[in-house]
Amino acid sequence: MNGIASSGNGAAPSVNGTAPNGTVPTANGIAPQVNGTAPQVDGLANGVNGIALNGTSSSLDGSPQTIFDAIATRIPSRAALAAKLMMKYRDSTVHEVTVENIMGGMRGLPCMLWEISESDATGVRHHKQSLSELEASLPKWPGSTQMSPEAMLWFLYTAQIPTSAELQGFAAELARRAELPSDALAFIDTLPKNISADSQNIMIYTFLGKYSKFNAALARGISKDDLWKHALEDALDVIARSPVIVAAVYAKANGIAQNAVPFSPAFDMAHNFARYIGKEGDNDFIEFTRLCWAFYLDHGASVSSHGMRLASSSWADPYSSLAAGYIGATGPLHAKAIGDSVKFNLKALAALGSDPSRDEIIAYIGNYISEKKIIPGYGHALLRVRDARLEILRRFLDEHPSSDPQARSLLSLIRNMNECVPELLRERVPGMKNPHPNCDTLNGCILHAYGYPSDQLMLFFACSRAMGFMTQYVWDRALGLPIERPLSVTMDELLAKVQS
Ligand SMILES: CC(C)(COP(=O)(O)OP(=O)(O)OC[C@H]1O[C@@H](n2cnc3c(N)ncnc32)[C@H](O)[C@@H]1OP(=O)(O)O)[C@@H](O)C(=O)NCCC(=O)NCCS
Repeated sequence: MNGIASSGNGAAPSVNGTAPNGTVPTANGIAPQVNGTAPQVDGLANGVNGIALNGTSSSLDGSPQTIFDAIATRIPSRAALAAKLMMKYRDSTVHEVTVENIMGGMRGLPCMLWEISESDATGVRHHKQSLSELEASLPKWPGSTQMSPEAMLWFLYTAQIPTSAELQGFAAELARRAELPSDALAFIDTLPKNISADSQNIMIYTFLGKYSKFNAALARGISKDDLWKHALEDALDVIARSPVIVAAVYAKANGIAQNAVPFSPAFDMAHNFARYIGKEGDNDFIEFTRLCWAFYLDHGASVSSHGMRLASSSWADPYSSLAAGYIGATGPLHAKAIGDSVKFNLKALAALGSDPSRDEIIAYIGNYISEKKIIPGYGHALLRVRDARLEILRRFLDEHPSSDPQARSLLSLIRNMNECVPELLRERVPGMKNPHPNCDTLNGCILHAYGYPSDQLMLFFACSRAMGFMTQYVWDRALGLPIERPLSVTMDELLAKVQS
């Protein structure tokens, strides 16, 4: 295997599903121009029809755009780039595939197209912007000092900074889409309490597939060029409904009346969510929700995003594709680590108290390592530096300290452990590539400190990741990306290849 760009099994891939026979791929019926004239191919730095793509979003006459318009504006330049890659560089090699790449879970292979973020060993960037740059440049919700998830979502979709008017219009549009159909609420009521909140969430997403506008359009029979618009309808619906689903599962578990407070277009998602679960008066909780939902939106080719992307590539509807991604997140090596960290840290607090000595921490964690147990909240499959998201969480805590003594003890213990554990892991787990704590060491514990139930933490964070998944889903359709079909290989075949 020499490079991922080879056409391997005969038929070279086509970006939008059309035969790669020399015709330029199109997206949405807009024929891209590859060589020179607008729309130009490198997206951010260039303009389409005079609209600056990397600046503040607005239409030519300065009036607020809808998300549909803003995405449609970006499509020609991205389609042109896709066409250029497929026409001009189709057979260029970008990477040698080693045995380690294959045996090691595809680590290091740049082989999954993911348009909305670039992530490498140093962290995540969205359309070339770091999280801290976006914190500074994205408009905030009125009265908030934290990042706005709706602004971030707009930026992910469009690579444009929304204006304040666009942010408010977009938030209102999402709130209008948030209401759950009454049969979905009834379905939630019928779910047994002895199945996990994650299983419930997955079932609710797939249940809502019956309302898929994308499926309905496919059943009617539509042009491939228009698929993205129907995908976007579903994507916005499910993004808007995710906090309502999570709130409904929370409300059911806590005996709060379902849909007691409908989502209002006057508020953003975080505020509406807090109202629904009876936390409207807790401004710190609302601010934390905004911040988390904004910066957890996407992290590139993780297990869950890969799961979503795979399902999406077969044109599974957005609801099912989201559920597929969520299923990938339920493993302890991935997002289940959020809840596992809370349990781990609470157990450590009970055993060590809030201010143990370094030696006590090392003895305690050392036992886990001797027993070959995984320490949740440490390590990363890609990052090789300290997790920038952890620094954001710590800053939030410094600015919004908890008033609950038990929570303060827990958070202070985590900070102490974060100092000692990396050194211990470096010594005792020599193969571990990144012994630093990751954001999951802390995020669930902050929510726990706000009284959030520890068995529902992943649902809370899924509201954020759903936005990232559903952004990429729309771009999958807008660019006409083909069905994923890697070649599988047995170890015997692998050995034969390297020995030949
Ligand atoms: C995130 C994670 C899955 C990355 O896995 P990875 O890419 O295989 O990590 P590495 O290549 O550094 O692993 C090398 C070895 O160290 C071990 N290791 C990695 N993280 C460890 C941890 N937190 N505790 C104990 N051992 C760990 C691995 O199990 C592996 O052991 P092996 O060689 O016996 O198979 C892993 O670090 C982990 O399980 N962390 C804890 C769970 C977690 O916090 N997940 C959320 C991540 S955002």
